Amino acid sequence: MKSIVILISGRGSNMRALVEANPPECKIAVISNRPAAEGLAYARARGLATAVVDHRDYPARANFDAALSAAIETHRPDLVLLAGFMRILGEDFVRRYQGRLVNIHPSLLPAFPGMHTHAAALAAGVKIHGCTVHFVTPDLDSGPILIQAAVPVLPGDTEESLAARVLVQEHVIYPRAMRWLVERRIRLTDAGQVLLDGEQSCDTSMIAPAGQ
Ligand code: GRF
Repeated sequence: MKSIVILISGRGSNMRALVEANPPECKIAVISNRPAAEGLAYARARGLATAVVDHRDYPARANFDAALSAAIETHRPDLVLLAGFMRILGEDFVRRYQGRLVNIHPSLLPAFPGMHTHAAALAAGVKIHGCTVHFVTPDLDSGPILIQAAVPVLPGDTEESLAARVLVQEHVIYPRAMRWLVERRIRLTDAGQVLLDGEQSCDTSMIAPAGQ
């Protein structure tokens, strides 16, 4: 039985997509840094183990990270999946979980790291936007990429309409990446490349065929 801990801060739609993907032989627990996170209600209703580590109780980041680690360690996780988790984690925490700590980011990294990615994409006038599942490293939003999905930016798009289009793809690629990890099909090379079944991973569903 594999153990997966999902960290959330709010709505929890990605957490829900991960849970509903129902990875075989996995036990999932959900931890939030916000007691009022809407996603907690869903997790409790599903009968999952839940916990809250409220960052406001820990003014120093190192103390918050330590409390979060302690809560995570009660589940002895094989994977820690950040799903809309809105706290920056310190280097010690990240190194402790390196190789099993994964995040989803709502842009085609390395474009638009940080917050407000959809507004940034619209302001930049890009024609293609999307989302990225990546291993977490100490540098923000820049770890080795497991999978990406692209969506078109359409005339008249607003931040909200673009976010909604991207979110649909988030719910596709994050469960897919989780399954690959659970099935031990992913290998991270020393050069920081992610290999799927021994080859460089790629999601080609939104890529135009060669020659067009
Ligand atoms: C998602 O867009 C995720 O990529 C970003 O924050 C949002 C969280 O949404 N990091 P949800 O809580 O998973 O619904």
